[in-house]
Amino acid sequence: MNILFDDEKKIFKIDTEHTSYVIAVTDEEGFLGHVYYGTKISDMDVNYLLRTEENPFVPSKNNRDRSSFLDTFPMEYPGNGVGDYRESAIAVKDGNGHSAVMPLYRSYNITPGKAKIPGLPAAFAKEGECLSLEIVLYDEVLSLEVTLVYTIYAGSDVMTRSTKVTNRSKQEITLTKVMSASIDMDAEDYEMLSLHGSWARERQIEQRPIGYGKQSVGSTRGESSHQEHPFVALVSKGATQESGRVYGMHFVYSGNFLAQVEKNQFDSLRMMMGIHPQDFAWKLGENETFYAPEAVLVYSDQGLGAMTRNLHDFYRNHMIRSPYKNKKRPILINNWEATYFDFDTEKLIAIAKEAKKCGIEMLVMDDGWFGHRNDDNTSLGDWQVNENKIKGGLKHLVDEVNRIGLAFGIWFEPEMISPDSNLYQKHSDWAIALPNRTPCRSRNQYVLDLSRKEVRDYVYEAVASVLRSANIAYVKWDMNRQLTDLGSNFLDADHQGELMHRYVLGVYELQERLITEFPELLLENCSGGGARFDPGMLYYSPQIWCSDDTDAIERLKIQEGTALIYPLSTMGAHVSDCPNHTVGRVTPFETRGNVALAGTFGYELDITKIPEEDRNMIPKQTAMYHKYNDLVREGDYYRIASYSSNHEYDCYEVVSKDKKEALVTFVQVLNRPNCHSRRIRLQGLDEKVRYQIEGIEGSFYGDTLMHAGVKIPNMWGDFQSVLLHLKEAEN
Ligand code: GLA
Repeated sequence: MNILFDDEKKIFKIDTEHTSYVIAVTDEEGFLGHVYYGTKISDMDVNYLLRTEENPFVPSKNNRDRSSFLDTFPMEYPGNGVGDYRESAIAVKDGNGHSAVMPLYRSYNITPGKAKIPGLPAAFAKEGECLSLEIVLYDEVLSLEVTLVYTIYAGSDVMTRSTKVTNRSKQEITLTKVMSASIDMDAEDYEMLSLHGSWARERQIEQRPIGYGKQSVGSTRGESSHQEHPFVALVSKGATQESGRVYGMHFVYSGNFLAQVEKNQFDSLRMMMGIHPQDFAWKLGENETFYAPEAVLVYSDQGLGAMTRNLHDFYRNHMIRSPYKNKKRPILINNWEATYFDFDTEKLIAIAKEAKKCGIEMLVMDDGWFGHRNDDNTSLGDWQVNENKIKGGLKHLVDEVNRIGLAFGIWFEPEMISPDSNLYQKHSDWAIALPNRTPCRSRNQYVLDLSRKEVRDYVYEAVASVLRSANIAYVKWDMNRQLTDLGSNFLDADHQGELMHRYVLGVYELQERLITEFPELLLENCSGGGARFDPGMLYYSPQIWCSDDTDAIERLKIQEGTALIYPLSTMGAHVSDCPNHTVGRVTPFETRGNVALAGTFGYELDITKIPEEDRNMIPKQTAMYHKYNDLVREGDYYRIASYSSNHEYDCYEVVSKDKKEALVTFVQVLNRPNCHSRRIRLQGLDEKVRYQIEGIEGSFYGDTLMHAGVKIPNMWGDFQSVLLHLKEAEN
């Protein structure tokens, strides 16, 4: 890794292991131009790619005050309203009501290490493990300083970018848009890949051609959302898991976002990522700074698989801080799908006793233990245990569960308030709402105004005092509705536009406090399933509940999309009862287990009531978890076949870093009559190593398994699955 600056020609070159990123300053005006991002190159002097001497309309020497120049120039951080009609990265409302801004190059700084971004999650690395470049841009008219921050990490092909904006004038200014990263490049043959979804159907992969104009995904819901995901990639047409060019942009943020690709009249692309400008306005006083969240950039010239593995390593090494990141997580049993709201101490203890016999290690008490919450209409905000259900109190229950030999975990939804709660009776003004409008209820609840310190303090103490009262090892932090009626009773008219971002900062502050006071706590984030599964949350919790859909077949797609960019160790995955509560599908218990093994692993069923033959399989599954989890958690992930595209079967593989072990999961979703067995070509093995496949005679070289492949026999019935465990042969 290296960052170079050619002082004379004003060219920056940022090199990771296999990529180069080149930025140059135009000599006359100081526009900062994006020259190149892609496979590593040797030369620095490539600023001819800025095409500053070309003019698409006039075949003479370019006159820079022509709008055609600004409208074609590949800007590194495009300004607003002065001639570039493509999407701007920054916009303001100044004291005169104007929106124009055009920051020009001023100075730079290259330093080892990386500064924290105040209040925001961001990638981290030790000083010797990363290098940062800050490029300072300045708008003289506004006295507005815009600093672009780039960091690269030893041994990684990921680069992070963020932006900070400081008001150097005496007047207040309002920022109406601050994107975190923008890149201009030639359109060539790229397609746009994004992840879409819905409740119980998160992160489905979609790839589409890029048309002229803007195509974007985004969220204005106050969280990263079920519906669209803060990730976008440009993928060269025909790219596969193993070949083709891929540019990915991922956002380290858990609120509103815009991820956009724009193709213009000159066949160039502008790709950007940042906080969604809708409902955003941030007032900056003299010398105040706004910090935009970080964007993660990744480039691969070896297809999607290499991008995936780059991101997995990056998040494992540079985003997840939890002490659990390299540890097995306890196998948990959660009572949500087992009992919903209908439980008490006795029921939970019965579940714990049976679970212990099967090798399960932790009981998680889900929603319904507090206030008078017997359905989802009440009591959010009243975080006092309901002793009618939890007879003998929480400590008694936790002690009993511990005595049985299980750890104990608990569910909270700290950001919410039910209209039917003591908290609402006292502090109805703590809910986000607009004066004179009836606020929109969702799941019969409102969202607390976390921009307000006293609210955050209340929420924190409510959660922390429960955790202090008993031996609680795990928290599931849920968030079951999105934001509407954007009004804060606390912010004045000039600052209402800050609510959405301040809300997210509030969530981050709360979780930071929590893991500071309880450093050993295993925190799992959740949002109606997987609506806030993003790199920002991974900074606080090493795992996130992937989806409320626990059906093994639906999970194939959800987990494929999630694993495209997130390590398997982050995906909350459980075995649940059948018929599945969301889709009514009946799948074999074995397949449910095999699919959940690709995530954190656990159970979500009433173990005292499931058929005995299923229960008898649990000890085998918990033993498999212990056998394979190091590999699944730390290994390299390869996508071999995708049920979402072939509609018949799914196959993925995890290979240990030393390539001595691998686990292949194959799921036959649909059986077909009168067919051959399937040939599966493995990936990522060492060609020269001989592998033994558990249960199969003999051994085979890696090259044989990767090029000639292995045979998966046809199985009787749909939804069947098989695991292949490979180990380096002993002789
Ligand atoms: C959300 C979660 C579920 C469960 C319920 C409880 O939907 O995703 O796992 O905790 O809330 O209300």
